[in-house]
Amino acid sequence: MELPPIVLAGRAVLRKPAAPVPPEEIGTKQLKQLVSTMVAVMRKAPGVGLAAPQIGVGQQVIVLEDGEALMSRLTPEQRAERGRVPFPLQVIVNPTLKVLAPSLPAGADAAGAGRATFFEGCLSVPGYMALVERDLSVEVSGVDADGKEVRWQATGWPARILQHEVDHLRGTLYVDRMISRSFCSNEEAKVLLGQSVAEARAALGA
Ligand code: CO
Repeated sequence: MELPPIVLAGRAVLRKPAAPVPPEEIGTKQLKQLVSTMVAVMRKAPGVGLAAPQIGVGQQVIVLEDGEALMSRLTPEQRAERGRVPFPLQVIVNPTLKVLAPSLPAGADAAGAGRATFFEGCLSVPGYMALVERDLSVEVSGVDADGKEVRWQATGWPARILQHEVDHLRGTLYVDRMISRSFCSNEEAKVLLGQSVAEARAALGA
């Protein structure tokens, strides 16, 4: 199967809200074909998530998957800090996202709670990454390609990926949300990723 290329920032389809998949298309061969193409493109890249607009299709479909191989360069401390854990393939059609309130000890200061800031990148903005603040816990609901209901509560890195992919369906890229002074090439990021987020921010004045 010849795979479509990933479209890059600058293509209009990445900047338009994606259309919901109509009920009559759920469960069709056509939708299943789109999903299997997206999964193949994501795995080949390789990436941990892909939204349909990234292969030029303006429909509300996202796929996500994270595995050991993709996080092998992170230390156990870095994995724990990011909340990065492997999860099996998730296919979500017409997703809606809800932020889950953080569980706080009584009397704790809620300001900034339930949010986390880390470097993230995007297959449609290759070669770069930046710090982005995201909600720590979210719940997504939608259906899979067969129309079966999907509901998933995600925390940490999976929650970050979900927010990133759902953003794609709204025509939003991480560069719209990033701490702009933290924008850096993947080459330079090798040093920054070895530091704490606070150190990286101090180094860049971000
Ligand atoms: Co992306």
